[in-house]
Amino acid sequence: MKILFYDTKQYDKDSFKENLKGKYKDIIIDFLEGDISPRTAGLAAGYDAVCVFVASIVDETVIKILSKVGVRLVLLRCAGYNNVDINAAKKYNLTVLRVPAYSPEAVAEHAIALALAVNRKIHKAYIKVRENNFSLVGLTGRNFNGKTAGIIGTGKIGTAMCKICNGLGMKVLANDSKVNENLPFAQYCSLNELLSNSDLISLHCPLTDKTRYLINRDSISKMKDGVILINTSRGGLINTNDLIEGIRDRKFFGVGLDVYEEENNNVFENREDDILETSITARLLSFPNVIVTSHQGFLTREALKGIAITTLENALKFGGDIIIEDNRVI
Ligand code: NAI
Repeated sequence: MKILFYDTKQYDKDSFKENLKGKYKDIIIDFLEGDISPRTAGLAAGYDAVCVFVASIVDETVIKILSKVGVRLVLLRCAGYNNVDINAAKKYNLTVLRVPAYSPEAVAEHAIALALAVNRKIHKAYIKVRENNFSLVGLTGRNFNGKTAGIIGTGKIGTAMCKICNGLGMKVLANDSKVNENLPFAQYCSLNELLSNSDLISLHCPLTDKTRYLINRDSISKMKDGVILINTSRGGLINTNDLIEGIRDRKFFGVGLDVYEEENNNVFENREDDILETSITARLLSFPNVIVTSHQGFLTREALKGIAITTLENALKFGGDIIIEDNRVI
């Protein structure tokens, strides 16, 4: 099995190379820094599979080229697959496998890190103290203990987030069509009820046609004043223009975003010398009560190891024609 990896950073290379041993020792991997595109897809000629990440656009044009050069498998080293044209992959007979779960706790811990940081203004305190400004003015936060957390989507990551919030002494409201029996402390309710009663709202549902812009002007208007909103799921869950309007209307005590619309040109690039060509990102970054991180929820050693092992296992099982059904997108 020969795999061409796209969009790789040093931490990807390290975690995969470290695990290319034992039963995986015969898998050959070449790493490219550049991402997959109609211009670079042809480089996969001679490989059995390509491996791409969360911001890689695998559209019909790319899929057509991959199929033409003999690639049979697209390995996603992430859970979400909204970046892949699934119908096109079916049409060109490509199998798409993913890593459905690697460390839900990694993402949930990042979500709560964003919530606590924006609540206690750690981002501002850090800068102030570095400048010898030891004043506390403007840094007042609120206790999470005794407040209400609203968790939208109680799958793997949402479940971990519910447990963390429960551990902090919060009342937990949950919204999901599937009730998770392992969360006896969580109170399932309608989305409207969750929106209007939560002090902290955290999004953990996937991006689908149904969930796109779940958070919009109307849903924001139903939220409590002074709510904290956290999104570590997908940028498209929030209509950013409506969010910005809400921030300007002083609706939010804080907003923490690990994902946002327009992030694709930014993740995981160093663009410190660039002038950002779109205004949404720049506007989000201009607010003192907004913290943005660059899709790093997954970035823990444990999660990287989990991603590497499942991806290699997917490659191995595909080579032997046995596919773990949970990992199959198509
Ligand atoms: P999961 O599939 O285990 O859980 C998703 C849950 O959302 C399911 O229980 C489903 O019933 C529920 N859901 C679907 N539509 C809903 C709706 N309209 N309202 C309420 N609930 C709804 O997925 P998992 O592993 O928990 O991941 C959640 C999301 O986190 C992924 O889709 C992905 O977008 C994101 N993610 C972000 C990462 C990061 O680095 N920031 C890393 C990994 C995943």
